[in-house]
Order: sequence, then structure tokens, then C-alpha cells
Amino acid sequence: MFRNLKTLLVTNNRRIMSTTSGQKRLADKVAIVTASTDGIGLAIATRLAEDGARVVVSSRKEANVEKTVRSLRAKGLQVTGVVCHVGNKEHRQRLLQTTLREFGQVDVLVSNAAVNPAFGAFLDTSEEEFEKILSVNVTSAFLLTKEIVPEMRAHGSIVYISSIGAYQPFPLIGAYSVSKTALLGLTKAVANQCAALSIRANCICPGIIRTKFSDALTGSEAAMEEIERVVPMQRIGAPEDIAGIVAFLASDDSRYLTGESIVVAGGHYSRL
Ligand SMILES: NC(=O)c1ccc[n+]([C@@H]2O[C@H](COP(=O)([O-])OP(=O)(O)OC[C@H]3O[C@@H](n4cnc5c(N)ncnc54)[C@H](OP(=O)(O)O)[C@@H]3O)[C@@H](O)[C@H]2O)c1
Repeated sequence: MFRNLKTLLVTNNRRIMSTTSGQKRLADKVAIVTASTDGIGLAIATRLAEDGARVVVSSRKEANVEKTVRSLRAKGLQVTGVVCHVGNKEHRQRLLQTTLREFGQVDVLVSNAAVNPAFGAFLDTSEEEFEKILSVNVTSAFLLTKEIVPEMRAHGSIVYISSIGAYQPFPLIGAYSVSKTALLGLTKAVANQCAALSIRANCICPGIIRTKFSDALTGSEAAMEEIERVVPMQRIGAPEDIAGIVAFLASDDSRYLTGESIVVAGGHYSRL
């Protein structure tokens, strides 16, 4: 038994040494990132590619995809792109097929797309709005996972982008917060089933991050003062603050971590 343990430790040490001896830590990985032509998704795609992954970027608008692919390739990064509205089955299939055709494998899925069409008191959310939020933010993440896992290699990693609102619903975006809470459950359920395939699933809960999505919350001086008051680090987050954690979860450095959610919010209160 001790001999086996020793062999395991030696093998693991070799793996660690190979990631710290000059080779980029995501060098042999292929990553799919949804909603990755702007904001947090773009920062994640950029960081994964900088760490050596071959990355497939995607979003709804062709012009955005083309522009992103051009600008990342100009930095010498290995990327390709495809139009994918995550709520559209044909688009999701094309996303997977393009990945396999261009790069021959898939190791990492970052499910980042979300919508929020409803602002106001939670119980004033219409049925249509509620269904749309759940459909794009949760059902699409589930379906994408279900479609990609059979093609994913061992030591794969799935990362869902949830929100700090998953733990304590934001008052004016209650339905959106509920969808983000559902992603915590999705993460656990996927992690439980996929552990046997050596595929991990984790979730990141960002605090308030400066993007177009959060403009409504951060657009005024008063809003920024409030953020400084409630965030112990006294600043709004940057998309890159999230990207580094995704790179860690995508890499073998987090190989024993699954089914977890990580709040990345400058100390903003979320849970014990
Ligand atoms: N910003 C924050 O403060 C914050 C906090 C917590 C959690 N989050 C979460 O972080 C994720 C990213 O948010 P963000 O702030 O980076 O948003 P963002 O800056 O508004 O970025 C939106 C990106 O999503 C794409 N997109 C929108 N709808 C899509 C769809 N249905 N299918 C595919 N792509 C779509 C857009 O491109 P196209 O227009 O070309 O589709 C664009 O690339 C979301 O899950 C959000 O809930 C954000």
C-alpha cells in the first residue's frame, strides 16, 4: 500500500514539476467559452489562451465573434470563433462541432452566458421574463453540459459563472438571482455524476464587476460610493479578477476540487 502511495506521489510530483518547468499550464487543453466577445467572457477567453489553451470564442453576433478572433490572434493567441446563442440547439451543436473540427478535442467548458430582462420587485416579474431568464441562464447551461460531456477528455473541467446574488438575491433582480442560485445546484449535480469520468465541475460567483452588463448598477457616482461602502476592498472588480480564477479551475492545479462555488467579490458579504 505504501509503495502504491509512493508511486502516486511521485507521479503527481512529476505532473506538478512539468507545469512549473516552463511549459504553460494549459498548453495541452482546448477550451470553449460562451458569451466571450465582451466583458468577463472575453477576459476569460484571453487568459485561458495566454496560459496556452486553444480557445473557441462565441456569442450571438457574427461581427463580435470576428472582431474578437482577429484581436486575439493579433496577440499571437490560438483561437477560433463561432456564432452561438446558447439558447439555440443548432448553435450549440455547431459550437461543439467547430471545436472538434478545428482543435480535435475539448477539455474545458466555461458556461458564462446570462440575460437579465427584468428589473423591479421580484413578484412583478412576468411569466415570460421568468421563463426567459431560467431558459438562457440555467437550461442552456444544462443542455450545453449534457451535449459536451460525452466528447470531453478525462481531466476535463467545467466552470459555471454564477453570481454573488446566488447567495443573497439582489432586490431589483430577483429572478436573475434565482437563476444564479440554480447554478449552484447544477454544479453539484454535474460534479457528482462526472467525477467518475475524471471531469470536474465548479462555479464562480462574481461580485460587482465592471462590464456593460453591470452598467445599470454602477453607472452613477452614488452607485460607486455604495460599492466602496459594501465592498471591503473598496473597489469594483475587473473582468480579469474573474479570469485568473477560471484559469486555476481549468488547470490541473485544482485537480481535487469539484462541486464547489468560489465567491470572487473583494470581500463583499455572501455567506459564512
Ligand atoms: N458584471 C457583473 O457585475 C457580474 C456579476 C456577477 C455575475 N456576472 C455574470 O458574468 C457573466 C458575464 O457577464 P458580463 O458582465 O461579462 O456581461 P457583458 O459584458 O454584458 O457581456 C456579454 C457577452 O455575452 C454575449 N451574449 C449575450 N447574450 C448571449 C447569449 N444568449 N448567448 C451567447 N452569448 C451571449 C455578448 O455578445 P453578443 O451580443 O454578440 O451575443 C457579450 O459577448 C454572466 O453570466 C453574468 O450573469 C456578472
